[in-house]
Amino acid sequence: MAVVFSGVQPSGTLTLGNYLGAIKHFVDYQEEEQSFFCIVNQHAITVPQDPKELRDNTRSLAALYLAVGLDPQKTTLFVQSEVAEHAQLAWVMQTIAYVGELERMTQYKEKAANKGESIPAGLLTYPPLMAADMLLYKATDVPVGEDQRQHIEFTRDLAQRFNHRYGELFPLPKMRAPKVGARIMSLQEPTKKMSKSDPNQNATIRLLDSEKDILKKLKRAQTDSDNTIRFDKENKPGVSNLLAIYSHCSGKSIEELEQEYDGKGYGNLKVDTAEAVIEILRPVQARYQELISTSELDRILDEGAVKAREVAAVTMREVEQAMGLKR
Ligand code: AMP
Ligand code: TRP
Repeated sequence: MAVVFSGVQPSGTLTLGNYLGAIKHFVDYQEEEQSFFCIVNQHAITVPQDPKELRDNTRSLAALYLAVGLDPQKTTLFVQSEVAEHAQLAWVMQTIAYVGELERMTQYKEKAANKGESIPAGLLTYPPLMAADMLLYKATDVPVGEDQRQHIEFTRDLAQRFNHRYGELFPLPKMRAPKVGARIMSLQEPTKKMSKSDPNQNATIRLLDSEKDILKKLKRAQTDSDNTIRFDKENKPGVSNLLAIYSHCSGKSIEELEQEYDGKGYGNLKVDTAEAVIEILRPVQARYQELISTSELDRILDEGAVKAREVAAVTMREVEQAMGLKR
């Protein structure tokens, strides 16, 4: 049986990269036997968070998940900290993980760089918590963007190590990355990925941006000076990123777009890309506005936590039994 699990951090408003690379695909996965979508607020606090903002971002993310089409009848949508077993299994996973392998994680190295001695321990132990997220539900399939590959492979290592020491309990989760366009790049530095935490507002399109802002940001997108529209990530990262965004939002292939824009200028491509983005975000924004201030949202999250706990508690007891933590 396929069990799908994925998580997104409630840190900052989601970008078009999060949407095209991760969340949009969640909707397809809820058709499988069992799926869990988690708002990972405990991962978010590995870097300092303002409490009010964290609370607001958590609800906002939940509303966005529902707005893109997650259906609480088909899937379980819940907040990580509301299911205590995540922290419990994370501790167990920390006893199985080695410091050396945690220190080699790319995301850790990036986030810990230049912090001197003030690196929160949680940044280092972030991957065991992430492993716990998936393993509690015995996830088999994990839809995430390419940047999470290392964390998924590490989860497989931990699961295997656990199974080897304490007996077969966990399936090894597989990463399911969308084939094309898994990586949407920054509009300002198109060799870097578009990131929620980018301080340069012109670099990211946010899912709740107004139509005016979307157009403005795309018009300002960095390109190059040879003025031919062609997909070539290496030599033309900016134009390639626009083509990728346009292709994902319109459903037209890159080749079709290259032909359509043969001989046209970057200005046309930018405006048309903006229109395609606006078109795809319009229904999402409308549904978001309907949900964000209702108690329906809280009811859905309460019920999600109850459903998640039922599964997580069973796994946690199995883990304790296997390890001798239960009398
Ligand atoms: P994050 O924003 O890093 O918490 O990522 C949340 C999810 O969105 C993960 O599955 C990422 O792989 C995915 N993601 C984040 N940024 C991008 C991007 N620029 N392009 C594609 N996927 C992304
Ligand atoms: N670390 C992931 C990210 O930053 C979020 C995440 C946490 C996650 N737990 C997970 C993703 C479990 C998939 C499965 O994108």
